[in-house]
Amino acid sequence: MALHFDCNATTAASPEVIEAMLPWLGRPGANPSATHPAGREAGRAVRDARTDVAQLIGGPPPSSIVFTSCGSESTITAIRSAAVRNPSGKAVLSSAEHSATVKAVSACFGGAESSDSRTIRIPVDARGHLDRSALFDALESGDVALVSLILLNNETGVISDLSGIGEACRAAGALFHIDAVQAPAKTPIDVAVLDCDFLSLSGHKFHGPRGIGALYVRGGVPVESLIVGGPQEGERRAGTENVPAIVGLGVAAKAAAERSVDAAAQAGMASSRDRLESKILTGCPGSWVNGDVERRAANTSNIGFDLAATGLDATALLALLHDQGIEVSAGSACNSSKSAPSAVLRAMGQDDAKAASALRFSLAHQGTPDAVSPDEVDACGQAVIEAHQALMGLSI
Ligand SMILES: Cc1ncc(COP(=O)(O)O)c(C=O)c1O
Repeated sequence: MALHFDCNATTAASPEVIEAMLPWLGRPGANPSATHPAGREAGRAVRDARTDVAQLIGGPPPSSIVFTSCGSESTITAIRSAAVRNPSGKAVLSSAEHSATVKAVSACFGGAESSDSRTIRIPVDARGHLDRSALFDALESGDVALVSLILLNNETGVISDLSGIGEACRAAGALFHIDAVQAPAKTPIDVAVLDCDFLSLSGHKFHGPRGIGALYVRGGVPVESLIVGGPQEGERRAGTENVPAIVGLGVAAKAAAERSVDAAAQAGMASSRDRLESKILTGCPGSWVNGDVERRAANTSNIGFDLAATGLDATALLALLHDQGIEVSAGSACNSSKSAPSAVLRAMGQDDAKAASALRFSLAHQGTPDAVSPDEVDACGQAVIEAHQALMGLSI
C-alpha cells in the first residue's frame, strides 16, 4: 500500500466528511434556491456549513464566506476584484507565492516580465520570510490596488509574519488578500487579527472534499463575480451550490479548527516530522532543511539533497520513491526527466541545482485517513536514504 507523505498536495476526505455528504448526493430537490421544503432544508445545511467555515477563520459574520470551487478560484476572484476596483493600480506580492496567486496577478495586472506590468515582487530571505520593509516601501510608492501574501508556504511550511500589513494596506487604499489555503489544521486563523479584506481556503487541503473552496470577504468590500448568472452567494458567485461538497467542507472546517489549537495534536505531528527529518539528514550526507525551522508548520519538511556529483535532480529521487510506494513531491514543477527548479527556493537564494534537488514531505494529523505510523515514517526515511545512495552509486 502506498504511504502518503504529500498532504500539502492533497488530503483524503475524512470518514465524518464523507458520511455527512452522502445523503446530499442523491436527495431530490436539494437546491438551496428553491422555496419548497427540500430546498429550504438544503439552504439550512449550506447556512450551517457557512457558519462552521466562518468559525475556522475566527468567526466573522457567516455572510462574509463565499463558496467557490477551489482555492485557485477564491484567489483569482479576490485578485480580479481588486484589479477591477482600481484599474490603474499596482499589485504587490512576495516572491514565495503559489502559482495560483502569481498567475492570477499576471492575468489581472500584467506579468512581472511584461513591459506594462503593474506588479511588484517583494523578496524573501534565505529562511523564506518576506522583506517587510520592502513591502511597506512598496505601499508608500502609491497607487497600490492589491497586496496578496501567502500565510503558510506550501513548499516549505514557513508561516509568514503578516502583522501590521492589513493596517498599512488600509492606509494606502490597497486591498489585502491572504492565501491561507495551507493553513487550516496547521495554525490558527483569525481574519480580525490578520486584518485582511480577502482570504482563500480550499477543502481538499484539510480532509474536506476536492472541488470546493471558500473566499472570505470583509463586509463592504466589493466582489467582481467570476461566474455570472443567478443570485447565489450574495451575487458574488453564480451557479447552483454544490450542497454535498459545502456540507463536507463545513464538517472538515470544524475538525480543522479544533486541530489548529490542539497542542498535543500539533506536537504529535511535529514529532513525526522531526523523526523523519533527522533520519534523512543523518543518512544522506550533505542534505539540509529548507526554510525557517523555528517558524513553520508542524507537518512540513522540505529537504535539499547533495546530488551535485550525479548531474541528477529530485526527479530521479522521486522516481525511485514512487516505485517503493512512497508518495512525496519535489519542491518544483516536474516533468518526467528533469524538474524546473522551485521558484520559491530560488527566491530564497538557492542556485538552480540546489533548488531542483529538494523533496517536500508533508504529513497529516493522527486520526485522519492520511496519517502514518512511526514505523511508516521510518520506512519512508529508509527508502529516501537508499534512493539517495543508489543515485550516488551511479556517479562512482
Ligand atoms: C498555497 C496554495 N494556494 C493555492 C492553492 C490552490 O488550491 P486549489 O488546488 O484548491 O485550487 C494551493 C494548492 O496546492 C496551495 O498550496
